[in-house]
Amino acid sequence: MIQTVKGTRDILPADMPLWLRVEAVAREAFRRYGCSEIRTPIFEKTELFARGVGEATDIVHKEMYTFIDKDSDQTSLTLRPENTASVVRAYIQHKMYNDKAQGEVTKLYYIGQMFRRERPQAGRYRQFYQIGVEVLGHDDPAIEAEVIEMLDWMLKELKITDTTLLINSVGDATSRPAYLEKLRAAAAQQLDKFCDDCKHRYETNALRMFDCKNPNCQALIADLPTITDSLDDASAQHFADFKAHLDARGIAYTVNPRMVRGLDYYTRTAFEIIGGSLGAQNTIVGGGRYDGLSETIGGPPAKGFGFAFGLDRMVLSIPPDEAERLRTASAADVFIVYLGEAAREKSFLIARELRSAGLSVALEFEERKMKKAMAQANKFHARYALIIGDNEIATGMYGLKNMTTGEQESLDLESIKSKLLGG
Ligand code: HAM
Repeated sequence: MIQTVKGTRDILPADMPLWLRVEAVAREAFRRYGCSEIRTPIFEKTELFARGVGEATDIVHKEMYTFIDKDSDQTSLTLRPENTASVVRAYIQHKMYNDKAQGEVTKLYYIGQMFRRERPQAGRYRQFYQIGVEVLGHDDPAIEAEVIEMLDWMLKELKITDTTLLINSVGDATSRPAYLEKLRAAAAQQLDKFCDDCKHRYETNALRMFDCKNPNCQALIADLPTITDSLDDASAQHFADFKAHLDARGIAYTVNPRMVRGLDYYTRTAFEIIGGSLGAQNTIVGGGRYDGLSETIGGPPAKGFGFAFGLDRMVLSIPPDEAERLRTASAADVFIVYLGEAAREKSFLIARELRSAGLSVALEFEERKMKKAMAQANKFHARYALIIGDNEIATGMYGLKNMTTGEQESLDLESIKSKLLGG
């Protein structure tokens, strides 16, 4: 039998209430904070990611789904491994910076699938979903704190409390070259002790050595100089201001000078939110500032800051009791129970009437005995059961049972409608 491809999966109806809840909370946050949705293509020119994310990153180096489209004049195309480069491309392509007042920012958000050929494990997939925000047009550290405040609100709304915010500054084009030299000089002294991946990173992009998960390398990395100690004055001031803005909002954080993130475009502020209830793949949110990205992909200078979280990981982080509440929240307003052929026919018409009034109606096509029908009403998490038999049709008064309290009353259809619509 044909099954899903390695690293991909079906999101089944039983889990959808959790996914939809995360999306709804995110969209509500975006409404409150003034972010507009953008939808970019699932595939783009490979060059966009090679230049934007960086040739030496694991993502570009070994994880991209790249193909040549017969129609594309041998242009190499890639399924997007992330969306920041695409959003910045769209920002430039559509000149979204035009018609902006001095200091006005563009706040964009996206929800969609990304593709990386990673080794699949719990919380890590080859097709996964991200929700992200990009704030373009300004480099005020207050923007960074506001974006993190928005994430903080989302986590609270989802009842996810077991998280840690890690922050760092990775410097900028001015401070980085001198630091990289310092780093390479320190690493060179013990290079033979590092793993082969790290030796490769030492050659291509030494900063990436901090990403190594090998415990042996981790111990060696602990002795390497950090970029946070080599910041130029402007970057150091930016980082101090960012922290002050977080403090003013009462947002707790931990500075991790060895957090460099897996994409090359970051400048200055970088951050992650780590979930306590997840296993090895515990980074729920990743983000930071990327002021040079626009220029890297051929655009005019543009400042940017943003994040993306894995929807898969956010859903996994919802605590079990909240997850259970979401799964069992009323799916249907009313479940119709009919007894006899005439009642069955009448049920179809009543269902149509209730549905056009805006109610969610569950109706089955096979008649069941009363007890079994009530069990079905529970299975549908219906708020009420509506009971229709010959007697009810004759009198126009139907039985309405509250599935939570068990109370039952006899009402005409108009009263039933207004009762169900009233909550
Ligand atoms: P990233 O750290 O590569 O950053 O990914 C962000 C989040 O996407 C991760 O923290 C994780 O929750 C989720 N994620 C990444 N890879 C996988 C995977 N294979 N399976 C499941 N979830 C995954 C970015 O993508 C940047 N574009 C974030 C950003 C936006 N920075 C600035 N703006």
